[in-house]
Amino acid sequence: MNLATNFFDYPLENCLMNASGVHCMEVSQLEELAASMAATYVTKTATMAPRLGNPEPRYRDLPQGSINSMGLPNHGLPYYLAYLEKAAEKEPQQLIFCSLVGMTTSEIFAELKMVQESSFNGFTELNLSCPNVPGKPQVAYDFALTDKILAEAFTFFKKPLGIKLPPYFDLAHFDEMAEILNRYPIKYVNCINSIGNGLVVDLATEAAVIKPKGGFGGLGGAMVKATALANVRAFRERLRPDIAVIGTGGVTSGADVFEHLLCGASLVQVGTQLHQEGPAVFQRLLTELAAIMKEKGYQSIAEFQGKLQTL
Ligand code: DHB
Repeated sequence: MNLATNFFDYPLENCLMNASGVHCMEVSQLEELAASMAATYVTKTATMAPRLGNPEPRYRDLPQGSINSMGLPNHGLPYYLAYLEKAAEKEPQQLIFCSLVGMTTSEIFAELKMVQESSFNGFTELNLSCPNVPGKPQVAYDFALTDKILAEAFTFFKKPLGIKLPPYFDLAHFDEMAEILNRYPIKYVNCINSIGNGLVVDLATEAAVIKPKGGFGGLGGAMVKATALANVRAFRERLRPDIAVIGTGGVTSGADVFEHLLCGASLVQVGTQLHQEGPAVFQRLLTELAAIMKEKGYQSIAEFQGKLQTL
């Protein structure tokens, strides 16, 4: 079975990678991803300065997924850029993604300038959808602000840029965001970040299960798959064909990977399930994906990618 694919000019052994936030905060974790069956990987969403994040407990695995309010614990962009520059020196052909976020627009521009001036030439993922910082609404739910940030960013940022989007729940919002994105030289969108500000209750203790924000946190895993697939499909149908879609959300099996690809994803990210299973998850998902493709008579991903049928 041929699971090979490509992301722009990068040939890849398969379509899998981690979702930012999971198993990518420490250099040791990034090295484990590099050594895993994931075809590529992304670093923890970084702010310019290191952050400790929100008080614990701030992540909970659930029967149907996960809830988190991590609050952007990270070692700061210079830590991740140093790792990425070194990795590129060792293996110049290797694809890696650098995820970043800003608390203010000026922080975003300072970070993009730092990446622009670095020797890192991989893909930068601008996260406009972190739901977990008290007092900071998700940028990508503010369409005018998103437009303004992209307009300024592309005056100086010349390296490949993707955008991590939150889930949208209305066709008018898909239309509006796609119209904005189509006016800029972005390379990809990543759908979806967690479904923001869910609340999970522990029946026995009558308490929320995480501490920050009174228990409100981003939902991930199986319970978000249908929303993720809808967002992948909606943006694939609306974006310029040269803008790729990365599918993220609810991947627990090879069948889920297949569905993301069918809806138009070029790469598929694994978050909650990677947290639960560790990097061995990638081999399991690939084995399951290959079995499904074989049963269906497909010899390569290109034969079904983006070809969802409608009734
Ligand atoms: C965090 C959560 C997110 O969903 C995200 O996109 C970035 C950061 C966090 O809480 O650390």
